[in-house]
Amino acid sequence: MHEEKILVLDFGSQYTQLIARRVRESKVYSEIFPYNVSFDKIISFSPKGIILSGGPSSVYDKNAPLPDKRIFELGIPVLGICYGMQLMAYCIGGKVAKAAKREYGRAELIIDDDSDLLKGIKSEVRSQKSEVRGLVTRHSSLVTVVWMSHGDRIEEYPRGFKPIAHTDNSPVAAMADKNRRFYALQFHPEVVHTEHGSEILRNFIFDICKCKPEWTMKSFIETTVEEIKNRVKNDKVVCAISGGVDSAVTAVLMHRAIKKQLICIFVDNGVLRTGEAKKVENTLKKHFHMNIVCVDASKRFLKKLKGVTDPEKKRKIIGNEFIRIFEEQAKKIKGVKYLAQGTLYPDVIESTSFKGPSATIKSHHNVGGLLKDMKLRLIEPLRELFKDEVRILGRELGMPEEVLNRHPFPGPGLAIRIIGEVTEQRCGILRKADAIVLEEIKKSGLYNELWQAFAVLLPIKTVGVMGDERTYENVVALRAVKSVDGMTADWARIPYDILGNISNRIINEVKGVNRVVFDISSKPPSTIEWE
Ligand code: XMP
Repeated sequence: MHEEKILVLDFGSQYTQLIARRVRESKVYSEIFPYNVSFDKIISFSPKGIILSGGPSSVYDKNAPLPDKRIFELGIPVLGICYGMQLMAYCIGGKVAKAAKREYGRAELIIDDDSDLLKGIKSEVRSQKSEVRGLVTRHSSLVTVVWMSHGDRIEEYPRGFKPIAHTDNSPVAAMADKNRRFYALQFHPEVVHTEHGSEILRNFIFDICKCKPEWTMKSFIETTVEEIKNRVKNDKVVCAISGGVDSAVTAVLMHRAIKKQLICIFVDNGVLRTGEAKKVENTLKKHFHMNIVCVDASKRFLKKLKGVTDPEKKRKIIGNEFIRIFEEQAKKIKGVKYLAQGTLYPDVIESTSFKGPSATIKSHHNVGGLLKDMKLRLIEPLRELFKDEVRILGRELGMPEEVLNRHPFPGPGLAIRIIGEVTEQRCGILRKADAIVLEEIKKSGLYNELWQAFAVLLPIKTVGVMGDERTYENVVALRAVKSVDGMTADWARIPYDILGNISNRIINEVKGVNRVVFDISSKPPSTIEWE
């Protein structure tokens, strides 16, 4: 379905995902395959160009990841980045050695040939001094800032290659074999710190690979809607709605294709935020006129959670109970053949460089478990998209900003923010405190700058005074973090007066709380959620 494609082979760099995103930002479709993907799969993907990512290894390591060398015989352009550059040199006859000085971070790149890959970069023209056999000469050079991160360097480039840029520490910071259309960069064009990185990638994609910029959200919607229609025909599809962005966008996209054949199921598990269930129902029912079944199962969930304090047990109970209720509801609907799910691209990439520690430390609940018993076929219309692309898609589908910009909310909900036993009364306390946190954060204009902001109910009581009376009540902790992907996070420096307001309001308005504390831990070593 996509004609113009760039393949990114992943050698384990923390930036691999960024490469694919930058390519897509240029409106060219890109996918990431693990470095050892079969050659047949590469052929059937039929890319117009290949990018070899960076990676933590050295080509001379015993288990260094190496690609199938036949990629260099396909006759299509290849761009090696960092480890990808050394790999290219190593695979086709160059020599790689340890750099005299490891280079990390900012470096000045002096462009020696700006005819194709490094074309049109508005770099500074600077007068350079060079010394050859004691003779000092001055000449002007094109200099631009790039982001380096490597310990090896090209000692001898392969036959056919010429250096096209250098830095003080790397005589070959970029090289090219224009005949074979092989290019390599020692630095990372995909990171924002490389001043003209996007231009360099665009030169590769458009001028060298000759791709056309045809991949837009509009075209994505058109082709996906057609695919869904052709696949589903007259059958019915169920979709579990969680209140999060991914499931909501999945539902709206499915609905665009098959209208009333889509039935959304929303389960109120009793550990949702204030007004959550109503908000979801309103958006989907009133705004998009969808079929939605809302099930209030809060009593059932709370009964199962009675006496449970272990976080993982809470997660499992909520996950299992959710599946059970979803199945009960879905079975009531005649003729259901498919289950639509909001799986995203980072979840389906086979490589390991995307799986951060939180993927394994906590068991995240997954509706995938539904398929075994129900014999439903899975439709995952977002499986090619990154998170930020899902938001753009939602916008293109006319979804309200309020839904698209919502902070992530964990599947087990408030249950993992109530430390200790989850009871209706403790849910009530946390729900009120949490609503105040969100209200004040939104009022202060900070909401969109934060990854998440929420309240946590602690299992301890402390002494306070209210009026003339001594109190012995609960403590609420505030958590507010900044993060790009939830894998790492820093505590947000919320201004004192906003913190003061939140604390005052919680203590005054939420019965049962007499103390508020603020969490100043980053992830790692802490996690975002408390459980
Ligand atoms: P942690 O606490 O691991 O959280 O730093 C990282 C991100 O994942 C969310 N999270 C969950 N989401 N089910 C979910 O659907 C879970 O069990 C779960 N635990 C954590 C958390 O809110 C944060 O955005």
